[in-house]
Amino acid sequence: MWRPRRLDTFSRVRSDKPRRFWIESFGCQMNDYDVERMTETLTSAGYEQTLLRPTADLVIINTCNIREKAERKTASAAGLWKEWRRDKPGAVLAIGGCVPSVDGDGLLKSIPHADFVFNPDAIPRIAEMADEALATRRRFTATAFIDVEDYDFLDARPVPGKVGVTALVTIQKGCDNGCAYCVVPKTRGREVSRPLPEVVAEVARFVQAGAKEVTLIGQNVNSYHGAGGGSDDFATLLAAVGEVAGLERIRYTTSHPKDVTPKVSEAFRDVPKLCEWMHLPVQSGSARVLAAMRREYTPDEYRRKLDYARACTPDLSITSDIIVGYPGETEADFRMTMALVEDVRFDGLYSFQYSPRPGTPAFAMDDDVPDAEKRERLGRLQELQQSIGRERLSRFVGRVEPVLVEGVSSRSPDHVCGRARGNQVINAPLPSGIAAVDLIGRTVSVQVVAARAHTLAGEIQALS
Ligand code: SAH
Ligand code: SF4
Ligand code: F3S
Repeated sequence: MWRPRRLDTFSRVRSDKPRRFWIESFGCQMNDYDVERMTETLTSAGYEQTLLRPTADLVIINTCNIREKAERKTASAAGLWKEWRRDKPGAVLAIGGCVPSVDGDGLLKSIPHADFVFNPDAIPRIAEMADEALATRRRFTATAFIDVEDYDFLDARPVPGKVGVTALVTIQKGCDNGCAYCVVPKTRGREVSRPLPEVVAEVARFVQAGAKEVTLIGQNVNSYHGAGGGSDDFATLLAAVGEVAGLERIRYTTSHPKDVTPKVSEAFRDVPKLCEWMHLPVQSGSARVLAAMRREYTPDEYRRKLDYARACTPDLSITSDIIVGYPGETEADFRMTMALVEDVRFDGLYSFQYSPRPGTPAFAMDDDVPDAEKRERLGRLQELQQSIGRERLSRFVGRVEPVLVEGVSSRSPDHVCGRARGNQVINAPLPSGIAAVDLIGRTVSVQVVAARAHTLAGEIQALS
């Protein structure tokens, strides 16, 4: 079993110059959040972040495993560090994120220049592990999960002036659902809820450091239950976060339809800071396919939950995820998915071809929808969604929306960008005589003048 060692055990590998690290990350917001925690842990152990790749002494590749394509990125990203690892004395290459939990030993074999492999539960020990790899030059994996009862969330340490306008705050780790296609329960382990006071305190720290918006993250935030069997649930958490002084906006992701309660839908109406946007992955419009996926709801139940949420908040924006070409999905099943998308009219949709993942229950099923068929279905779905997405965006044209300005537009330095409460991205030219820095972090009124393919264009109204 791995035991922490005092850092001074490794003092012989330390020179006067701080060791520099570089992190490359793939995947979802869980991984983005973990990058921040690794950065803080390494920095407080005396490491320094570098913005110049070749100057790095420690390189961490933070991997994603959700589909085969994502996993393939691990090997190509690691390949780019081969010569660096061979030629630079003191170089250490670590592979973290979601692949290690399912294939730690395989990674050590397939990436012979990797020094160690670790899963998200090992992040608090990252600096010690890096030092140990360098001191001993022995290769190792750290991929055990911490027991649910012993799991402690790493607190974020936001630095005033160095945080963005929006911040991610984790409320839950792991996943206890058994969606047959999904690797996440294997990559991130059992579900653990973070104690409510810890979440609220972290949100307050981000706000004190300058953040205006938080996104609460977890794989299935609706099953949040606080610590130790108390009465806290997700709706209680939203209300508590809504009380944090100085916080302007709350978002969250991701919801599982089976756990969306009326209270959660009512929160959009009852918690003023909660933005009117819900990401609610449906995965399929066929009851038969949903049952095979083990999603534990029917398309009708999904529709009813959305109807209630929209009854509480008529202008709610809804986005979703869909998998096409699941084992056994027929053309008739796929048409039910198209019909659901047509009816529900999502504001945005992330759609994927089914990708068999080793270690999941669906991996044993016959992946019987030919690749060309999967591609064709995905194309039809995306074409349909494109027109629905445009139509949904066009409802904003002519309205004045409160927009939290997040930064300079990537397209043009004299435009700023931000988001409406429904999560739509809005670009607007800077009013004359105003610099972007004066607007970043402010909520301004924007007159929406046009809807583009995925964004809105607007004009900032008189500033007070
Ligand atoms: N916890 C979230 C989703 C996390 S994964 C939820 O339950 O909604 C993000 C999305 O990736 C999923 O919603 C699903 O649409 C997609 N996905 C997951 N496993 C996949 C697989 N094996 N093949 C294709 N898409 C997959
Ligand atoms: Fe995967 Fe399902 Fe858990 Fe989402 S809820 S992470 S799709 S197992
Ligand atoms: Fe990928 Fe892990 Fe997220 S598998 S999608 S990085 S939870």
